[in-house]
Amino acid sequence: MQRGLFISIEGIDGAGKSSHIKAMAQAFEQAGHTVVLTREPGGTALAEKIRTLLLHDAMDPVSETLLAFAARRDHLRQTIIPALSQGHTVICDRFTDATFAYQGGGRDLPWAPIAQLEQWVQTDGEGNFYEPDCTLFFDVPAAVAAQRLQGARAPDRFEAQAVQFFEQVARAYEQRQTDAPARFVRINSNVPMAQVFEQVLAALVARGYLPPSSAQACEATA
Ligand code: TYD
Repeated sequence: MQRGLFISIEGIDGAGKSSHIKAMAQAFEQAGHTVVLTREPGGTALAEKIRTLLLHDAMDPVSETLLAFAARRDHLRQTIIPALSQGHTVICDRFTDATFAYQGGGRDLPWAPIAQLEQWVQTDGEGNFYEPDCTLFFDVPAAVAAQRLQGARAPDRFEAQAVQFFEQVARAYEQRQTDAPARFVRINSNVPMAQVFEQVLAALVARGYLPPSSAQACEATA
């Protein structure tokens, strides 16, 4: 069976990615895909426990990195790899680019050990390496994102960071895009929501993941 499609969604906190993930999943389902919608850190019982630690317990950046990859390993083994093996489409709210961006960029850690962990953790027993086929990067200026987050629920350890932290995170995402231009799609998230989703659908159609009728259906309801 052909391996399923693996799509990750990235962006700084407040970039607005969450608003579009469910609609994306629906578009794939309408096109006949079986969709597994999941997130990082998280996606399994163990990884969700690690998520709670990462988001709420004080720790140093190296521990953050190791926990993110421990959660990822479990997520890959229990959820992502089995789904892809069955030909399902996996849509993951954040993946390894977030570790490069938040721990590498935001926390200022060197990238080399993160890259080593990426290779180790994302390779299975048969030597197959797993990474997203496509990463949608929701890009918005850090100051705009900070404003969007204001007044939202109580911030977690990352959301509580200053704008400068998110500027560093955003620069790291840009670097990841430069390093893997074929995998990344930049979505301008600093426009009204309907226009953001139009870009998402257009990118997925352009890559042949969705039929052109998906984008036309969106235009008709806009
Ligand atoms: P997020 O995806 O923004 O979820 P929500 O929309 O529910 O707030 O929250 C996850 C947070 O975890 C986000 O601030 C980024 C951070 N994170 C890391 O620092 N490193 C990682 O490797 C991952 C996957 C996430």
